[in-house]
Amino acid sequence: MRRRFAVGVAFGVAFAACSAACSTASTPPAIDAGPPAPAQVDFPTGMLWGSATAGFQVEKGNATSDWGHWAQLPGKIKNADKPDVGGPDALAHIDDDIAALKATGQTAYRFSIEWNRVYPTRAAFDADQPDAAALAAYASLLQKLKLAGITPMVTLQHFALPDYLSDVSAPTQPQGWERPETTTLFTQYCSRMATRFGAMTDWWVTINEPLNLMLGGYVQGSFPPGLLLSMDRALLVARNEARAHARCFDAIHAADTQDADGDGKAALVSYAAHLRTFHAYEEGNADDQAAADRVRYLWNDWFLNAVIRGDWDDDFNGKLDGPNDKAADPSLKGRADYIGANYYSDTLISASRGVKVPVVNAAVYQDGLATGRPRSDFGWDIYPEGLGIVLDELKPYALPVVITENGVADSKDVMRARFIAEHLYQLGWARARGVDVRGYFHWALIDNFEWASGFCPRFGLVSYDPATGARTPRASAQTYGQIIAANAVKKSDIDALPAYGAPTLCAP
Ligand code: FCB
Repeated sequence: MRRRFAVGVAFGVAFAACSAACSTASTPPAIDAGPPAPAQVDFPTGMLWGSATAGFQVEKGNATSDWGHWAQLPGKIKNADKPDVGGPDALAHIDDDIAALKATGQTAYRFSIEWNRVYPTRAAFDADQPDAAALAAYASLLQKLKLAGITPMVTLQHFALPDYLSDVSAPTQPQGWERPETTTLFTQYCSRMATRFGAMTDWWVTINEPLNLMLGGYVQGSFPPGLLLSMDRALLVARNEARAHARCFDAIHAADTQDADGDGKAALVSYAAHLRTFHAYEEGNADDQAAADRVRYLWNDWFLNAVIRGDWDDDFNGKLDGPNDKAADPSLKGRADYIGANYYSDTLISASRGVKVPVVNAAVYQDGLATGRPRSDFGWDIYPEGLGIVLDELKPYALPVVITENGVADSKDVMRARFIAEHLYQLGWARARGVDVRGYFHWALIDNFEWASGFCPRFGLVSYDPATGARTPRASAQTYGQIIAANAVKKSDIDALPAYGAPTLCAP
């Protein structure tokens, strides 16, 4: 088994790729037959149709974040790419990005307000002296979105943290979300941003993919602070992020009392969960299946249970039976107005082979799966049915759902059109089964800095050419635009699209 803890692995959750051993082991997981597929799925009036970015990935000048320092360290980023060299410089191109959204009829845009940009130093944070240029840039973006009739969704923490809270030169010391002060300061940050920008946005995401940050930073080592299998610290991060989310939720609701779009709601707050499907590595193997269920619980359910139901499973064992466990904790319960779900792909889980992750006692396979499905440039399976599966799993929470990210690394644009159509078909079908999905944000609006993998993976609806600075909509953006215009997907339209093309591999 080839270990994939190395630098540059896709966004923090990829533990391992299937080796030759894997390629003989598994047949594609069966998809539940279920009721017949509808000929057409329809979306509701007012469905949010958008795309997403994150500040560190598309802006320049975030050197005072932990990622800013991390990206300067040798060997951390594929091809030694630098976030400030070769990226789309979004804050200097707000009009271009809004024009691209409008050109395809998108009605929403998810982006982040970068904490380190607004408060580059601890002194500035403590004195509440935000950087004037940063505030002006984000205010301008929000104003221009409003003029364009595009609904903003603001993320307050998308992986990068200010360097005064996360010091990449001292990984043995508590960093980032391990530090109690981070929750305190984040809550203040949430309150200040909601006070300042609450009249301009109603949609808030507190923390993006809290468990990916934990996994990348403390288990797999591809994110700051770069630790391997440091499980105690990893679980502390997850616990602190859940509590910080709840505090931020309360702070936003207290501060944002202004209804930005006149729909009667001042603030809709959640976090963006990264949800996946999990299948037994060997179909029919009961141990693998039990291991897959353990990983699914930890990855998909633990955080949602904590902040929606208040069920606090402190030891992550799937039962509320530990000394620190608590059911329906009022300090956590009810802290999501909607579920923000990022969905990308499938995962195979083995109980008997490979590098086992403690806590779940299972090996996790996320790229190069021997399933026979098409693969992206990142080596991830293209598995649209999985979106339907994770949406069905959200039904018991009885909350509206927004797909806050979904997309494909596809530099040649030979997969994206079909990828979008097939995923939106699954989304519409899940709606027909009763899942209340209100919006979809494609990742990403434009090519950007893909964390440890640098600029290699190309996720944009719009391509960015660093040599010329050209921003060029990819052909697949038209397919997205046609679906938005129709507010529906026909099965026959999907059948008419070309088959998935071959990937241009960009794996680390
Ligand atoms: C998600 C991240 C996003 C981007 C995509 C490809 O996990 O939230 O920033 O890296 O993956």
